[in-house]
Amino acid sequence: MERTLSIIKPDAVAKGVIGKILDRFESNGLKIAATRKIQLSRGDAEAFYAVHSERPFFNDLVDFMISGPVVVTVLEGENAMQINRDLMGATNPKEAEAGTIRADFAENIDANAVHGSDSVENAAIEIAFFFSEREIS
Ligand code: PPS
Repeated sequence: MERTLSIIKPDAVAKGVIGKILDRFESNGLKIAATRKIQLSRGDAEAFYAVHSERPFFNDLVDFMISGPVVVTVLEGENAMQINRDLMGATNPKEAEAGTIRADFAENIDANAVHGSDSVENAAIEIAFFFSEREIS
């Protein structure tokens, strides 16, 4: 069974829509195999987003991701990575299709409600960043 990592970002946590977002996953056949609410340190966020370290928005992205708690979740199911990406909608909420998480809950490209792994290979790396195997079931 395929796994992917979701992060509910600080803007969505502050808005009080954790439950609504987790419901989208379960309502679309994805199992919540592990979940945890945490406050990322600057070091955590810089390490997690290291692949984007040369991009102009890197510091803004790190500042945003440590601005409040996040909810990290392992989603499991057939095609879990792509299903989660489809449920999220486009990175820029202005371009996100109606009914997607970002269209419904995100403010702008800086505060865009959710992260989802962009490949099965990256999902394995991102899941291992937050969870040990015995926490996932
Ligand atoms: S993606 O989702 O990786 O395909 O999108 P990408 O455009 O490569 O963006 C990578 C992550 O950076 C965030 N992002 C930004 N943050 C702040 N300001 C600007 N302008 C910006 N553009 C992109 C984007 O939300 C992605 O974060 P994650 O957490 O991976 O979704």
